[in-house]
Amino acid sequence: MKPFDPANALSARTSAIEEAAIIAMAQKAREMKAQGVDVVSLTIGEPDFDTPEAIRQAASDAMNAGFTHYAPIAGYPELRSAIAERLNQDNAIPVDMAGVILSNGAKQALTNACFATLDAGDEVIMIAPFWAAYEGIVKMAGGVPVIVSAGAGTGFKPTLDQVAGAMSDRTKLIMLNSPSNPSGAVWSAEELQALAGLVQSHPRCLVLSDEIYEDIWFEERPTSIASLPGMFERTITVNGFSKAYAMTGWRVGYSASCEPLAKAISKVQGTFTAGGNAFAQQGALAAITGPRDDVDAMRASYHHRRDLIVSLLSDIPGIKVVSPPATFYVFPDISGLLGKSAGNTRIETDVEFCHWLLHEYHLAAVPGSAFGGPGCIRLSFAAGDDDIKKAIARLAEAASALA
Ligand SMILES: Cc1ncc(COP(=O)(O)O)c(C=O)c1O
Repeated sequence: MKPFDPANALSARTSAIEEAAIIAMAQKAREMKAQGVDVVSLTIGEPDFDTPEAIRQAASDAMNAGFTHYAPIAGYPELRSAIAERLNQDNAIPVDMAGVILSNGAKQALTNACFATLDAGDEVIMIAPFWAAYEGIVKMAGGVPVIVSAGAGTGFKPTLDQVAGAMSDRTKLIMLNSPSNPSGAVWSAEELQALAGLVQSHPRCLVLSDEIYEDIWFEERPTSIASLPGMFERTITVNGFSKAYAMTGWRVGYSASCEPLAKAISKVQGTFTAGGNAFAQQGALAAITGPRDDVDAMRASYHHRRDLIVSLLSDIPGIKVVSPPATFYVFPDISGLLGKSAGNTRIETDVEFCHWLLHEYHLAAVPGSAFGGPGCIRLSFAAGDDDIKKAIARLAEAASALA
């Protein structure tokens, strides 16, 4: 008998998922740092701020007050109700408490939504560039990604004809991420209205609208597609506390939808994990009901950094940059630098570019290919001014070395 190989025991579902390039680049940067190399990393998508004090205090008080038992599967009613109120007031989404289901981060809310709606072979329209995790979530839930690509020329948003051309009888979901990771693109109310028309002309298509970056905007507050006429029943809105309140490690997210969808989502939540963390939800309650000064201050800080990084990038020959109207990411087009050489090293792709940049110039960035956007790189500006300046100086030096 052959020796047992555990790899043979893995499911095809798991084997089909690749390690995220973002994690791989961040890991490599960490290893180099541990070896004493002065690496600047603009790879990771998380606020560089700590969770505001009042939120931490509320969670700590809750833990001491006994919020250490299982929370209800759908989340604490007070939190569900506060989220529903905020979505009605600020987003014009007519959801009530029954439609709000808490989860362990927005990522799980997206997963729950996919498992609640997709059957094997159902098609999911994904607008590239998209957050790298979407593809794995959709595939694990049995869905088939149908990718519609949009480049810098159209502000990383596809035309309506492109989306219409990708739809079929099997289309079940359109994944919408406005504001977008990695491009920072925001869909205007008019663009969303046009998309809504398309969705409503289809017998069973829903929108899965990931609005996790909604509070990090610099021009105007983004519109929620679920607020448009006839779209509430057609939309699962996903959001969470990670980005706006600097609470990535807390793992509190949620979905908001009409009740039949919410019931199915709650079933998935209950099947996989039961209710989310009890005292973290109490911290989230303090976050959503408390003053918004910290959220506003963090937004102002990202705004300043956005202006800084865009102005520095604009001065580099061979790099084209669209100023992101939201998020803490910029997605410059570096295709003007590809097909060139530095000494004996020829750089053909964004992936090769990022590896070379890390090893030769000690700057970690994520290749656009990881998001379905080849020819670009993603830089996170959730970093201090000094790191941003140092990073872009290194990028400029690297660009000038390619001929
Ligand atoms: C587009 C997008 N959606 C969802 C998430 C996940 O957020 P959470 O930390 O709430 O799971 C991220 C995190 O990077 C993201 O970029």
